[in-house]
Amino acid sequence: MTMKDKNILLCVTGSIAAYKSIDLYRRLVKEGANVEVIISEGGSNFVPPFVFESFGESVYTDDAFKYPLAHISLSKFADLILIAPATFNTINKIASGIADSLITLVVSASSDTPKLVVPSMNSSMYSNKILQDNIKKLEEYNFYSMKPAEGGLACGDIGEGKFPEIEDIMFEIERVFAKKVLSGKRVLVTAGGTREYLDPVRFLSNGSSGRMGIALANEAIKAGAIATLISLNIEKSCHYINKGIRNIECRDFSELRQALGKEFKKTDILIMAAAVSDFSFKTKSSKKIKKTGLKKSLEIIPNEDLLKMLSKEKRKNQLLMGFAAEDAGILENGIKKLKEKSLDYIFINDISRNIIGKDENEGILIKKTKKGILKKIFERQAKKMLASKLISEIGEKT
Ligand SMILES: Cc1cc2nc3c(=O)[nH]c(=O)nc-3n(C[C@H](O)[C@H](O)[C@H](O)COP(=O)(O)O)c2cc1C
Repeated sequence: MTMKDKNILLCVTGSIAAYKSIDLYRRLVKEGANVEVIISEGGSNFVPPFVFESFGESVYTDDAFKYPLAHISLSKFADLILIAPATFNTINKIASGIADSLITLVVSASSDTPKLVVPSMNSSMYSNKILQDNIKKLEEYNFYSMKPAEGGLACGDIGEGKFPEIEDIMFEIERVFAKKVLSGKRVLVTAGGTREYLDPVRFLSNGSSGRMGIALANEAIKAGAIATLISLNIEKSCHYINKGIRNIECRDFSELRQALGKEFKKTDILIMAAAVSDFSFKTKSSKKIKKTGLKKSLEIIPNEDLLKMLSKEKRKNQLLMGFAAEDAGILENGIKKLKEKSLDYIFINDISRNIIGKDENEGILIKKTKKGILKKIFERQAKKMLASKLISEIGEKT
């Protein structure tokens, strides 16, 4: 999913957070969107139009009579009307069918255009029943609305009402545009790499960052799924994980096995993107082993194949997707693993192409279909992009 060539009408209203719409505007443009901006009269007290104009954007101020028929041309332009920030005043006006300004007029002329409202105000204003009832009313009219963030507000209060992070708004916009191919499906994704501990400080692990699995969970949410992530040793601050994802943190093979045992039965689709160790240490010490106490060789025992184990418990309508890392014989090994583990899909990462821990990935998707086993090559691309394509593939089958 990309913003490229999407026409977005950004409507900025009179919240103290209006200045944050400048970062939002810049991010939208950076992602390739065509953006038009309207600033309400209230909004221009906080962000003078010349701020946007200095980025080369011609801004509509909220005077409908200054731009004859702009409400019609802008409603035809917009693939999305994004009201960010959206004030108490503007939300309530729209819900009441008032059309006395350019922003409210464009909305009145755009029944079929997706609309995303991003409320931002003091927490008492946000919890006001009039506003809450009107947000519900707008949702019944197919508006999308975001929950504001919680935290310290401009007035000094602490609570719900903050303008959300730009990353969260961008996610919401992509969610509005995404095809709901997994609507209501429960998707379980594993991400990251296991750590097999020798003692509390030493472990056997791999270089998996968790990026691919996290991207798959995010894209599943955009596609309408209820997503759970089992994350293994990922550096959370380095990733965007949407707040709608339930995250279960595990460290080693046995914790992962336990979590999967609990979650798998509640799942429609399992995507095993985590790099799971094939071995554990035969003995683990609960105390740090002294240097002098370390043996010259360490005994390892093989771990069970979790996908093979789960595919035996698989219900008829459950889908299983595996990931495997190969550096040679990619296709043959992939087909062998697909059959051995009774999978519906397997994505073979070509690790000879330096993809571990990187933002990009490439490989071959092998899938079991009624017409037999089919393969699809995916060229090197951002993991987010690849995840979106893989989710679409799964969506076709569900
Ligand atoms: C200093 C100041 C800060 C304000 N901050 C907000 C705010 O964060 N959210 C909000 O809904 N209204 C806020 N308001 C009130 C709106 O600016 C006011 O209701 C205005 O009429 C909104 O007009 P508009 O919805 O057409 O932009 C604030 C007002 C002032 C004076």
